[in-house]
Amino acid sequence: MDSKLNRRMFIGTAGAAVAASVATKVLGEDAPAPAGKGIRIVGVSCSPRKGKTTAAGLQICLDAAKQVSPSVEIELIELAGLNINGNVAAGVPLPAGQEDDFLKIMPKLADPKVAGIIVGSPVYFGSVSSLCKAFLDRLMAFRKDNFALSNKVAGALAVGGARNGGQELTVQMIHAALLCQEVIVVGDGKPTARLGATLWNKDDDISGDEFGVTTAKNLGRRVAEVALRVAK
Ligand SMILES: Cc1cc2nc3c(=O)[nH]c(=O)nc-3n(C[C@H](O)[C@H](O)[C@H](O)COP(=O)(O)O)c2cc1C
Repeated sequence: MDSKLNRRMFIGTAGAAVAASVATKVLGEDAPAPAGKGIRIVGVSCSPRKGKTTAAGLQICLDAAKQVSPSVEIELIELAGLNINGNVAAGVPLPAGQEDDFLKIMPKLADPKVAGIIVGSPVYFGSVSSLCKAFLDRLMAFRKDNFALSNKVAGALAVGGARNGGQELTVQMIHAALLCQEVIVVGDGKPTARLGATLWNKDDDISGDEFGVTTAKNLGRRVAEVALRVAK
């Protein structure tokens, strides 16, 4: 990967990476999803800590999504350890010698098979992690590419160290950014049916948070159900 991406190079690279998605959007008059080939739901963990509670919460979502239909594939993407620089979205070049790991993520999201995206963040002082904000800002590349994520179904998950630590605020931050991509935002499905998945981390474990785990399952199921309808 070129470590000296300037603005022009970035836009060029980004455009090439998502070109396929523009041609084969999951929903659209131009190129509907190929019938009978199934869909993929992707979870994006925006915790800087790999394999911790945000990733665990997303895995619960994805497992629930998979249970909706045999035609649902799932994939968990962890941003932990990746260099995702939000400033690039504003045209600021990466510092010399740095790799732009967002370019590795782009093709995964742009894949026409991806019909649903669930973004998960730890709650950091009532908001998203800086990694999550950088990721959401970098989605600018899709917006600039004729809204290449348009009509994918999206949901949000937040894990906090306190029961009421700002999970819903965090979910709403994610929603606001995703709405700018013309995605179809959904919450956790019934019977909880609120903003999304809101989990409580106790000692790096979410399994004891029965309500939060239920919201994660309902979010995964809801994203898959709507994505399957949209892809019809
Ligand atoms: C900088 C920072 C700020 C945090 N702020 C909050 C907060 O406002 N509310 C809360 O409930 N938890 C807060 N936490 C705790 C994390 O949200 C919690 O540990 C979360 O589960 C971490 O996700 P992870 O296990 O995926 O890394 C904070 C943690 C850090 C490091």
